[in-house]
Amino acid sequence: MEVLEKAGKLDDVVHLEVGEPDFEPPAIAREVASESAAHGEVSYTNARGKESLREAISDYYERQYGVEVPLNRIFVTPGSSPALLAVMLDVVDPGSEVVLTDPHYAPYPNFVRQAEGETTTVELDPETGFEPQIADFEAAVGPETAGLLINSPANPTGAVLSPESVEALVDLAERTGTRLISDEIYHGLDFDAEAHSVLEYTDDAFVLDGVSKRYGMTGWRLGWIIAPPDEEQAINRLVQNFLICAPNHVQDAAEAAIREGAGLDSIRDTYRERRDLLLEAARDWGLDMGYTPAGAYYLLLDVSSLPGDAFEVADRILEATGVAMTPGPDFGTQAENTLRASFATSTADIEEAIERLDAYFESH
Ligand SMILES: Cc1ncc(COP(=O)(O)O)c(C=O)c1O
Repeated sequence: MEVLEKAGKLDDVVHLEVGEPDFEPPAIAREVASESAAHGEVSYTNARGKESLREAISDYYERQYGVEVPLNRIFVTPGSSPALLAVMLDVVDPGSEVVLTDPHYAPYPNFVRQAEGETTTVELDPETGFEPQIADFEAAVGPETAGLLINSPANPTGAVLSPESVEALVDLAERTGTRLISDEIYHGLDFDAEAHSVLEYTDDAFVLDGVSKRYGMTGWRLGWIIAPPDEEQAINRLVQNFLICAPNHVQDAAEAAIREGAGLDSIRDTYRERRDLLLEAARDWGLDMGYTPAGAYYLLLDVSSLPGDAFEVADRILEATGVAMTPGPDFGTQAENTLRASFATSTADIEEAIERLDAYFESH
């Protein structure tokens, strides 16, 4: 966000720092949002979300993963971020622990801290494609562990968990009586490996998802929680008290988007091509970390060979070339000497960024 602010003060910036898909939401979503608002669908809804939207979400899980999710376990929220906060408030007792991967989505530790919990991390290695090693997770789980928080396809690495890893994590959570919390917000943006939902292996987990990434609807603020059967009442109380409901007409628009689908086949092809462009350039610059993102739209670049820390490197590159990238340290110690480049931006912009960085690295 700070890089975005700095970039906003400069002219002619190419934005590789942002996590916003560049594609348009399904056209039907805009139509339905306007019609719905015009027809007065603007009051509070049931705190769980409108039944027709929850039916569309349930059908999506059936269609996509062949799993049955009853409507009473689905909670629609204003984005997946408040959903994550509600889940943390439910799972984490003061002093208990949540296991995260390192690197991880930057705000995760803050959600845990806000629930007065602690975090412990499992280090991921680019050499194994940032795929979690189950033995490391096993070693990280202790008597204080309340939850395991996983994210696939992952921000900031773009790694996609194999079905074997998902199954092993489900098994570990079951054996140790720990809650598995799976952030599946980048599902659908898996272009080299299929992303599997934890719900294919268990009902006994929290799943977080929403329309931000897959449908290009970040600012609409619409997400959801799938709660395990025995936490349904607790989550109901939390969302009733703290979230009230997601915007009424946006719920209708989200239902339309989910039913219509996002035309993801061509989007996935585009993201794969952009990933290839950026990866090839990273190899030329000597910043490649030796792994290939299989989903989401992020690539970590190793900047340890450049002078200064990752914040200084990001600033220097931004000032010299107008290319904005995100410094890695906020994603964890394993990303300390990295920059995160997003390929959610247009192919033309990525080509422009590569051209500018080619010239920069040639002269540096
Ligand atoms: C891993 C991850 N989870 C959650 C979110 C938040 O998404 P939402 O727009 O649904 O709040 C993001 C946004 O970048 C993300 O990268």
